[in-house]
Amino acid sequence: MHKMVENGVKHFRLDERRLKRLESLMHGIIKKIKPDKAEVERLTALSNEVMSRLRNLVPKSVEIITAGSIAHGTHLKGSSDIDIFMLFPKEMEERKMEMRALEIAKRVVSKQKHERYVIKYAEHPYVKLFMDDEDVTVDIVPAFKIRDASEMGSAVDRTQLHTEFVLSHLSEKQKDEVRVLKFMLGQHGIYGAEAATQGFSGYLCELLIYYYGSFAKLLEAFARLSPPVAIFPANRSEAIGKEKAELVKSFNSNFIVIDPTDSTRNVAANVSMEALARLSIISRRLIQNPEKKVFYGPRYSAVNERDKILEFRSRLGTDMYIVALKTDDIADDILWQQLKKFKSRLETALAEQRFECILSIQGIGNGYAALAFFINRPKRGTDVVLGPSAFMAGASESFMRAHQSKALAVTMYEDRIAYIEKPKFNDAGELLRSMSQKKDLPTHMRKATAKVLLNKAPEEYAEILYPELVFATSI
Ligand code: UTP
Ligand code: MN
Repeated sequence: MHKMVENGVKHFRLDERRLKRLESLMHGIIKKIKPDKAEVERLTALSNEVMSRLRNLVPKSVEIITAGSIAHGTHLKGSSDIDIFMLFPKEMEERKMEMRALEIAKRVVSKQKHERYVIKYAEHPYVKLFMDDEDVTVDIVPAFKIRDASEMGSAVDRTQLHTEFVLSHLSEKQKDEVRVLKFMLGQHGIYGAEAATQGFSGYLCELLIYYYGSFAKLLEAFARLSPPVAIFPANRSEAIGKEKAELVKSFNSNFIVIDPTDSTRNVAANVSMEALARLSIISRRLIQNPEKKVFYGPRYSAVNERDKILEFRSRLGTDMYIVALKTDDIADDILWQQLKKFKSRLETALAEQRFECILSIQGIGNGYAALAFFINRPKRGTDVVLGPSAFMAGASESFMRAHQSKALAVTMYEDRIAYIEKPKFNDAGELLRSMSQKKDLPTHMRKATAKVLLNKAPEEYAEILYPELVFATSI
């Protein structure tokens, strides 16, 4: 008996005893996160209400459907975003369709019922309707009505096909397991395809549960996942050998989940290697120990973020520089990507100047953006600038002319002249400051001058950095 348990751990398989424990854990989670009948009925009624308002406004040729997790039966309790699609005939010209769609969607907003809307920009502009009395938001998204992906005009057109696939392929039990997976990923900060998360989207979770068959099977597969992996949920098969190599190359990815409704689409395109690796670790832990405390990610409270960041810094004994910025009011995805590029530019410069950055994080929110760099305390005296061989007459002479005036000293390293110079920057702060002039900042973060702070964390910046620090430093 003892032997068997050991093997179970070693091969990351759920033996009978652990499977039972996992199932009872899942049972408890489902009770907690599955919307009850009343909630489903309320959302269905609201969704029907908006759909019928739309139907009264559109010509017969336009179809109104619901999509996303509420239509799929895979939404979590308390999630309140209803996705409604207006499907226009494919013959319609795209700009005309967009205009008509906005016009119609705006007309369903009822002021008497305290509803408001904003226009959002994705593939096509769409209306986000806020039903404040109900505490529900409804995305009213236009697309073209298509029968299969070959007719697809834009990426949102696929959504209607996703709904068909999920409804016709997943069992009720599997849908509940999708909920368990989504919730678990959320707890560990890797649910969602957006740039700030680069994790698993709702539709990807649905496909993964369908492909592996169950949450338990998925855990076993991820516990021993060995990328590159390319799978076809459509017929529940996996690519191997040459086929796999070709997919890896053409999608430029090590984790490929082919959309059953469109073989040209990798549904996992946004999943980072980090998110994939984290799920692999979580899977092994949960198999070894199917307990609540493993299922739930790290907890932290949103108080005293400032002190906690400073404590973390002093525990490491490094310096901590914060680059503090203000952002324009535009989509988080764009801000996040701009900030990420800026961060990696600074990291490269720090490395070039031999400042050893051991951890960096970024955060955005509430109109603020911030980078934090944890940098080993510099023990640096001088820089050595090594010239060409003295036997290269021309190059050697011009090297000396360029360097001799600012050098602290000169010496020979065998046949090469070496100037010993003062470092360009005395500390990382000087470097960060010099690279954070207004013109160097990301385009949507130029409304204020950047501040570069050493071992200080003002509250508004600590608030956006601390959750990211917790995520980055808990595994
Ligand atoms: P959502 O982002 O609302 O996800 O996209 P979801 O599946 O409803 O999950 P939760 O519960 O809200 O988190 C709605 C639908 O839009 C399509 C998918 O079909 C998804 O089900 N979609 C969304 C994509 O095809 N690609 C995306 O990047 C996002
Ligand atoms: Mn949704």
